Amino acid sequence: MAIPATYIQELVARNDIHDTISRYVSLQRAGRLYKGLCPFHSERSPSFMVYPETQSYYCFGCGAGGDVIKFTMEMNSLSYIEAVRYLAQQCGMPLPDEDDGQAKLKARILQMNKLAARFFYDTLNSDAGRNARKYLRDRQLSDKTIVNFGLGYAPAEWQGLTNYLRTKGFTDDEMVRGYLAARNKNGNLYDIFRDRVMFPIIDLRGNVIAFGGRRMGDEGGPKYLNSGDTPVFKKSNGLFALNLAKKSGKDSFILAEGYMDVIALHQAGFTNAVATLGTALTSQQAKLIGDYARKVIISYDSDEAGQKATRRAMEIFEKEDVTVQVLQMTGAKDPDEYIKKFGAQRFEMLLAGANSALDFNLLKLKSQYDISIPEQRVEYLTKACDILASLNNPIQQDVYCSRLANETATDKASIKLQLERARNKSRRQQNYKKEKELLRRGVGRNIKVDYRQKGNTMPKAFAQQQIICGLIRDNSFYSLVKDRLTPDNFTDGDMKRAYIAFTGLVERQVAVDYATLAYHMPAESAKVLAGIFARNAEIIITGKDMQMHIENLLTAKLSQSEASEKSVDEIAQRLKALKEKKK
Ligand code: UTP
Ligand code: MN
Repeated sequence: MAIPATYIQELVARNDIHDTISRYVSLQRAGRLYKGLCPFHSERSPSFMVYPETQSYYCFGCGAGGDVIKFTMEMNSLSYIEAVRYLAQQCGMPLPDEDDGQAKLKARILQMNKLAARFFYDTLNSDAGRNARKYLRDRQLSDKTIVNFGLGYAPAEWQGLTNYLRTKGFTDDEMVRGYLAARNKNGNLYDIFRDRVMFPIIDLRGNVIAFGGRRMGDEGGPKYLNSGDTPVFKKSNGLFALNLAKKSGKDSFILAEGYMDVIALHQAGFTNAVATLGTALTSQQAKLIGDYARKVIISYDSDEAGQKATRRAMEIFEKEDVTVQVLQMTGAKDPDEYIKKFGAQRFEMLLAGANSALDFNLLKLKSQYDISIPEQRVEYLTKACDILASLNNPIQQDVYCSRLANETATDKASIKLQLERARNKSRRQQNYKKEKELLRRGVGRNIKVDYRQKGNTMPKAFAQQQIICGLIRDNSFYSLVKDRLTPDNFTDGDMKRAYIAFTGLVERQVAVDYATLAYHMPAESAKVLAGIFARNAEIIITGKDMQMHIENLLTAKLSQSEASEKSVDEIAQRLKALKEKKK
C-alpha cells in the first residue's frame, strides 16, 4: 500500500522525535541536541544523539540512525507500516490504510458521544435526574465538581438515549459500534447504560471517547459499567481524568483505583489524580503517565486486592522513567473514604510522607515478623539489610540504618556492619553474574591476564589440570565448562577420566569433592589427580582463570615437552609467582 508523502510528513511532525524517544531513553540536552545511552547496544557513556532540528537520531557507537518511524520500528520490532500505524494511533491521526468510511465512522462516533454526554448531563438536571442528584450529593460532590467532570445520568429507560440519538440522525449501526446501544434478539436497539450515574471519559484533545456508569442502588448489574473498545477508544490505553491531570501543572500524578476516588481527590484539590478504567494497569498506561509526570504516587485501595494491584503496578512502572511512591493508607478503604473521614489536609500529609517502593518493601517485610522476639528481630534485620544493600547513596543508607536501629532498639553500628556484609554479598553475586554473562557472550578471549601475554603458549596439559582442579573446588564452575568442552578435549588420559567421572556425577546433582571423584575413577588416575591437587593447592582458581584455561585448551597446541610433568610443575610455579607479584 502506498502511503502519501504528505501523510508521512504530518505523522513525523505530530510525533516529535524527542518526545517519542524520551519514552524509552533518558535524554539530556547538550546544546542543540540531546544525548543518551543508546538503546540498541549496551554502553556506559552516551553516544546516542537526537537532533530535534532534523527530527533524526544517530548513534556514534553502533551506527543506528534514522527518523521517528525508523526508531519506532527498531525499538518495537515493527515493520514500516506497523510503525506508521502505531505512531498514528499515538497522535490521534486516522490510520493510513483507513478508508474514508472508517475515518468518517470515528468522527461520527465522537460527535455522537459528545451529544450523549450532553444528553446525560441534561437528564441529570431534569426531573428524571432527581435521584441521581441526591446520590451525588450524598457522596458529597459539589455542583462545581459535577460540571467539571461533566457528570450525568442515564435514564431508567430502554430507549432513552437511543431515541434521542435517532432524532439527531445517528444510525443503529453507529450506536452499536460506539458502544452506546446493543441489539436484542429481534434486532432492536436498547440503551446499554440505564439508570446509572455517568462519567464521561475525555481524551487530551477534549473528545468524549467513552463512558463509565455507576448504578445507584445495590441491584441492577455490575457496580460500574464501562464502554468496551470502539473505533475511538481502547480501554487498555485510557486513563480517567488524564485531561484534567495534565492541566494541573504538577509533575507528579496520583494513581487511584476508581472513578469516585479521582473525583473526590480533584474536589479536595488534588487535581493530578488519574485512574485506569476498571482494568489493571497496563504498560501503555504506565508509559502515558510517564510521559506527563516524573513521579507517580500509587494510591490504591488499602485492602488485600488493592495491595496486590499495587505490587503489580510497581513492577510495570519499573520499566518507565518515573519515580514510584506508594501511599500507605490506614483507617480507610480508599482515598475517597479517607478524605471524607479525615479531610484533605490529612491526605496531604499522607502524600508528603508517601512511602517509596523501598519503604513499601521494608514494611511488607516487617509485617512478617514479631520483632519483640529476638530471633525474629535478627531475621528481620538481616533481611532488611539485604533489601537496603541495593542503596548506593551513603546518606540514604545511614538514614535507613538509624530508622532500623530505632525501630528495633538495636545498636546502629551493628546494623551498619550487617549492611556492609549484605552489600559485599550482593556485589559478589553481581560479579559472578557478570562473569557468567561475559562467558555466555563468548568474550572470554578478550580477557587480558598478564601471564597470557605471550599468546597461546599456555600448555594444554596445564590447562586440563587447572580445569579439573577448579571444578572439584567449586562445582558451580561446571556451568562455565559444560557447553564448551567434551571429554575428547582432554588429551591427557587421567584428566579425561576425571572429567568423565565428574560430569557423570554432577549431572546427577551429586556434589563432587576429590574423594567422591576418586571413588569413581581407576585407582591409578585417582593417584595422579591427588598429586596434581597437592601441587596446585596454593593456586587460586577464579572464574576468569577457568575461562582462560578453557580457551587455552581449545586453541593452544600441545608440545611434547610442555606435556611432561616437569614443565607443568614449572608453569604452576611460574603462575604462583606471578600471582604473588600481583597482590
Ligand atoms: P471499587 O469497587 O473499589 O469501587 O472499584 P470504588 O471506586 O470505591 O467506587 P465507589 O466508591 O463504590 O463508587 C474500583 C474501580 O474498579 C472499576 C471501576 O473503575 C471502579 O472505579 N469497577 C469496579 C468496574 O469497572 N466494575 C465494577 O463492577 C466494579
Ligand atoms: Mn469507593
